[in-house]
Amino acid sequence: MIKAEHLTISYEDKNVIDDISFDLEASKINVLMGRNGSGKSTILNALAGLKSYDGKITSSPRISYLNQNIKTKIRFSVYETILLGKVEDLSLRISKEDKEDVEKILDLLDLHAFRDKSIDKLSGGEVQKVFIGQALIKNPEVLLLDEPVSALDLKNQYDIMKIIRDLSKDLRLTTLISLHQIGLIEHFADHILLINDKKIYKEGCSKEVLTQKTFKEVFEMDTTIKDVDEMRMIYFK
Ligand SMILES: Nc1ncnc2c1ncn2[C@@H]1O[C@H](COP(=O)(O)OP(=O)(O)O)[C@@H](O)[C@H]1O
Ligand SMILES: [Mg+2]
Repeated sequence: MIKAEHLTISYEDKNVIDDISFDLEASKINVLMGRNGSGKSTILNALAGLKSYDGKITSSPRISYLNQNIKTKIRFSVYETILLGKVEDLSLRISKEDKEDVEKILDLLDLHAFRDKSIDKLSGGEVQKVFIGQALIKNPEVLLLDEPVSALDLKNQYDIMKIIRDLSKDLRLTTLISLHQIGLIEHFADHILLINDKKIYKEGCSKEVLTQKTFKEVFEMDTTIKDVDEMRMIYFK
């Protein structure tokens, strides 16, 4: 679980987030939406304990955070990159259990074929899977992902989101993902937090949050929205 009460976050006395509260459930895909600069990464940093804040955050203790800008210049193999996720509790020797855990992650994400390949030789989608593996080997209860699919092609975006959704349900993770892609949000989000002007503009399911009014007020875009057989069609003018 993650619960934030009266969360206020600032850089050099300038508030970026002003007194917001939310309560996120496990096994759900919780999406953090908002325009560039609205404070999504700032909120994730605070939840991960990397940024100071005012107010109160209550969270399950084991948190894994996948940052926005992953560097792939380092020439670790897939196996080593996943093992590095253990770095906090890794003693000088790598135990049998550590190795078994890496094998489990390679299984889970279907990465065995790449295990000894250097990650700078992988495609964007494969690299992203490896870093999700690195986050998962920490055995987290809370998974924070900052724009995890922004650099990926359409198929990889859906594949990675599907992996994240299935893992969140199977492992009962409390997952919070910042995401821009409306199609993905429609398809995968159980719960949306839309940040605008330092506040939560709206919170709820996509039908509640993604309205004509929202697109106009937050994104300054004119839309026509139609509900057709359980599906929502959003047309941007
Ligand atoms: N380290 C920093 N120092 C000062 N201002 C920052 C810093 N990081 C982010 N900001 C500012 O905080 C606001 C929110 O940034 P950010 O959380 O990165 O937004 P988002 O992730 O939604 O694009 C922006 O106005 C940004 O310029
Ligand atoms: Mg950001």
